[in-house]
This record gives sequence, C-alpha cells and structure tokens, in this order.
Amino acid sequence: MNLTVKPVEQLTSEVKEYRKAEHSVSPLFLNRWSPRAYSNKKISDDDLYSVIEAAHWAPSSFNDQPWRFIVAKTEEQLKTFHEFLYPFNRAWAEKAPVLVLVASTKLRENGDINGAHVFDTGTAWGHLAIQATLLGLSTHAMGGFDKEKARSLLNVPDDFDLHAVITIGYRGEKETLDENLQVRENPSSRRPLKEVVFEGSVNSSAGI
Ligand SMILES: Cc1cc2nc3c(=O)[nH]c(=O)nc-3n(C[C@H](O)[C@H](O)[C@H](O)COP(=O)(O)O)c2cc1C
Repeated sequence: MNLTVKPVEQLTSEVKEYRKAEHSVSPLFLNRWSPRAYSNKKISDDDLYSVIEAAHWAPSSFNDQPWRFIVAKTEEQLKTFHEFLYPFNRAWAEKAPVLVLVASTKLRENGDINGAHVFDTGTAWGHLAIQATLLGLSTHAMGGFDKEKARSLLNVPDDFDLHAVITIGYRGEKETLDENLQVRENPSSRRPLKEVVFEGSVNSSAGI
C-alpha cells in the first residue's frame, strides 16, 4: 500500500482567504471543500479504497453499517453514471476520474426498518470526504441525479435508498469550467455558529 497523506497543519491559501473559523479546529476540516474543476489525473486504487475504507469506519446504529458504495472508475462505468446525472452536474462532473453512488440499506438484518440508515450514511460520506482531503484529493456530493434511472441502470435493489453521487479526483484549473461556474469555484463560508447551536433548550442561544 502506498498512501501519500498530506500534512494538514496549514490552511491552503484560498481557504485562508474565504473561510474563517470562529473556534479552534484542525485545518483539515476547512481545507475540505467541494470544487467542480477536475484534472484528468487518475486516482490509484490504493487511494480510492483508502477513502472508502475511511467511510466504512464510521459509527452506525447497532453497528449495522447500512452504507453501500457503487463505484465507477472505468470509461464504460463512468459513461453509465453520466447518463443519470442531471445536465447541470454532468457539465462539470464528467471530468472526474471516479464517481461513487452512495446508497444505504433501509432494513436491519432482522428485517426491521433501520431509522438511522440515512444519518449513518451521511457520517460515512463525511469520513470519505475528510480522508480524501488528507490524500490531496477533492470530492463533491451531488443530489442532482435521476434516482430511478440510476436504480434501473445499476440494478439497485428496492431496499436501497440512493443519496448522492460523489466525484473524487484531483483539482483542475478553474478555467476549464463554464464561466458561470468559474465564479463559484471558491471555498464557501458558514453562517455564524450561534445560529445553529443552542444551550439547554432552543429558547436560548449558546453563549458564544
Ligand atoms: C447531499 C448533498 C447534495 C448536493 N447536491 C449538489 C448538486 O447536485 N450539485 C452541486 O453542484 N453541489 C451539490 N452539493 C454540494 C453543496 O452545494 C456543498 O457541499 C455546499 O455548498 C457546501 O460547500 P462545501 O462542500 O464546498 O463546503 C451537494 C452536497 C450534499 C451534501
């Protein structure tokens, strides 16, 4: 195995410009953002399966591990995935060397509905994105795809829920994007923390 994990002591220069955390947090979390410009550099299988391995170590309710990942990395597989991306995503995502459809099983081993499968699978995607950042890779989740078409083209069983298609790849030049996307090719910011945190009850905001 040949993993090239990048040091994350520092914010990248573009992240420094666009993102200000209110509290101390590892630069790793700020350095992860969702670009749309990808280079044509291929990803090694070691790196690809490292990010999926990270996802698989997410916590889950009763350790049911409901996440399922359908990977497209060959030309033929990618072509099939491109067919079910909505055009506004296909326009940029078809340059990415790997696409992963993130799904989850709705049922537990005993046939009961697993009420936590979406929560758990979101955690797994978060792990995947962070491990990718550690490896110098970028990711971008897309909810904009035709789920029924994906289900039929990939023979996805009815008890799987489909959540997002994820691009994985190395960053490319912003100039390769359409102009309307070039202006958006920057790390996003976040609303103030006090808008999303409460202390004690939702009637009182956190003292931050
Ligand atoms: C479930 C999910 C669905 C998303 N769908 C799309 C999409 O269809 N197209 C797109 O360009 N970005 C999509 N995004 C990316 C978000 O817009 C992006 O994560 C958000 O603006 C925060 O930016 P950041 O990831 O760069 O921090 C999606 C993200 C998630 C988590």
